[in-house]
Amino acid sequence: MKITDKLAGAEETARQYSYIEKAKTYVDELARNLGRKPSCCVITFGCQMNARDSEKLSGILEKVGYKLTENENADFVIYNTCTVRDNANQRVYGRLGHLGTMKKKNPHKKIALCGCMMQEGAVIEKLKKSYGFVDLIFGTHNIYKFAELLVCMFETKGMVVDIWEDTDQIVEDLPSERKYPFKSGINIMFGCNNFCSYCIVPYVRGRERSRSPQDIIKEIKALVADGVIEVMLLGQNVNSYGKNLDEPISFAQLLEEVEKIEGLERIRFMTSHPKDLSDDLIQVMKKSTKICRHLHLPLQSGSTRILKAMNRKYTREDYLALVSKLHREIPDLSITTDIIVGFPGEEPCDVDDTIDMVRQVKYDNAFTFLYSKRTGTPAASMENQVPEEVVKEGFDRLLKTVQDTAREQVQRFLGQTMDALVEEVNDQDSSLVTGRLSNNTIVHFKGDPSLVGKIVPVYLKECHGFYYLGEMQP
Ligand code: 5AD
Ligand code: SF4
Repeated sequence: MKITDKLAGAEETARQYSYIEKAKTYVDELARNLGRKPSCCVITFGCQMNARDSEKLSGILEKVGYKLTENENADFVIYNTCTVRDNANQRVYGRLGHLGTMKKKNPHKKIALCGCMMQEGAVIEKLKKSYGFVDLIFGTHNIYKFAELLVCMFETKGMVVDIWEDTDQIVEDLPSERKYPFKSGINIMFGCNNFCSYCIVPYVRGRERSRSPQDIIKEIKALVADGVIEVMLLGQNVNSYGKNLDEPISFAQLLEEVEKIEGLERIRFMTSHPKDLSDDLIQVMKKSTKICRHLHLPLQSGSTRILKAMNRKYTREDYLALVSKLHREIPDLSITTDIIVGFPGEEPCDVDDTIDMVRQVKYDNAFTFLYSKRTGTPAASMENQVPEEVVKEGFDRLLKTVQDTAREQVQRFLGQTMDALVEEVNDQDSSLVTGRLSNNTIVHFKGDPSLVGKIVPVYLKECHGFYYLGEMQP
């Protein structure tokens, strides 16, 4: 990033803080009229990046005077949407209908929409036509202007819509409200340049932009000073981090810098593209004491023919070679993945290839998705779309294999004692707490709420498919 851009960024941060003050006057006025502090509710759809964006939205809402709640009865409700698959869009429309009914009873209620789904022209048209009660709509590129957009919403009658095509702006140092005091996501890059042929992300999140390592380290140090012990470095393709910076730096080098931060205990990252996973990264992970023993490595398909049509830029053999290197160098590593079934042209023998891969790689977990046709992507206009019943049949076969192999894989640490970061009191049995092992597996064990946020040794006593029951060790 050039110095002038950086200055422009700092000026923008200052501008947004002045809008926070201005928005506060409107929320104060609302509080006087209501005779109480107005409430707000942020609902997140989709991935970890969206979850992190929602923390930023919550931070601003809190600063301008709202009280955060999880109840959609709130005075201000915002949906941070996802559009990776069509079912996420349908869920938004369904829930929005209910919000509209609530607003009829509570006309002062404000409703906002943001996130990936808003970057699609057809969605905006539909909202304008059939959901006129929505007060504010913005997209992924101008989320840093949320305070300014709130002011605009308070000053405008009717729907405010502000969608940008793309941006190269990264605005630092805005407030955020973390969901967990002891762990946090950190954006290290935005956007994606890979254009996998089924995927809408490059169109709605724009081109790849990396944050400067200095800004990332500064943010993590501040989080650690505030009690955070685990960070998750976030990007659509973290393995290509830093390539477009003025002073290029690799993801492996960034991790080495993050490792040096005193007080930070665990480092996670997501998502890795297999084509860019370097030997340097494997070596940095191998010698690290903080990087968790978990790698999310989306496979998408086990058939080289389908991988080619997906524009994934690796073959089945490349992926297997990479996994065997990973297993050899870091034997206690858990690998998880994403798989799509029903990509155009996929035949049952391609699903057989995927199933065979699942058996060979031995995933700890695999997220399996039915292919969803996304308008504007190359795959959407491919002629050989697969009939629904064929997709379903392949999906069920794959799911069965994933469940069997994952169960076997997860239980390989049975009888060992491992460190777990306690994340919460178990919501079904309050005598139990729920912790996460370095390899991302969940373990439930007897414990009290004071353990939340601490790393403790736990004996892994019983394995129940995807999780363990354990006993805390002295
Ligand atoms: N249909 C189904 N799944 C998809 N994904 C991305 N685009 C699609 C689509 N059009 C899946 C991929 C990706 C995960 C986040 O979502 O598996 O890794
Ligand atoms: Fe989508 Fe591929 Fe980018 Fe992942 S790497 S966000 S699947 S285009």
